[in-house]
Amino acid sequence: MSCDTKDAAAEGALSLVRDLIKSSGGLIGIGTGSTVARLLPKVVELLKGKRVLSSSLSTASLLASMGIDVISYPASYPPVIEVYIDGADEVSPDGNMIKGGGGALLGEKILAYSSELNVFVVGEEKLSDLLGTRRPVPIEVVPESYPYVLSSLKALRLNASARQSNGKMGPTVSDWRGIIVDVYTGPIKDPRSLEATLRSIPGVVETGLFIGYADYIVVGRRACSYDILSFRRSAKAPYI
Ligand code: 5RP
Repeated sequence: MSCDTKDAAAEGALSLVRDLIKSSGGLIGIGTGSTVARLLPKVVELLKGKRVLSSSLSTASLLASMGIDVISYPASYPPVIEVYIDGADEVSPDGNMIKGGGGALLGEKILAYSSELNVFVVGEEKLSDLLGTRRPVPIEVVPESYPYVLSSLKALRLNASARQSNGKMGPTVSDWRGIIVDVYTGPIKDPRSLEATLRSIPGVVETGLFIGYADYIVVGRRACSYDILSFRRSAKAPYI
């Protein structure tokens, strides 16, 4: 028997977060993408009456359609999220990830940074030995700085192009009004150094490299099972 890996991952995530959501009196963060969307019907009743933040307009409207109220900004300070649940595009054995396939990387990084516990849900096809093998690294760029950022990337011998939009002419513009640029790195030997290089270019607001953000990654298997991998988290807000 073979299963849809997203469904298997959602089942695994449910076993991990069910009790946490049930007992939570704080903020719950919900990320973006089709894998998270498989989990939502399973947790929708638990989310009712909770304070929920979403990483994108897409997830906010999905949650709203299910009867969940999404607050647009954290209603308490510091804005600590108790549990954040999201997907990923590529995952390496050390738990580092490429995210931003849905163009929501900035909102996703803000929520993951501010969360006490991060749970990512992926199908096994997202696993790879070296990040960059399967996917480009998306970056979010201030629109006015786009020509300078592209020139800088070219000078660094990195191929990059603005992601084209579906349903509109031109580049994909994020919920946060930045242009999403995909950087085709190939396999990345040193993700931290690449992250520093990309972030050093003025006009780059954020990258889709999520280094040290995972507490747990739930991997759904074609064999209808799941694995819950745990990691030593290093990236978090100083107020957590
Ligand atoms: C959106 C993301 C998503 O979490 C990522 O693209 C995974 O999506 P899916 O579960 O649909 O494969 O980073 O910006």
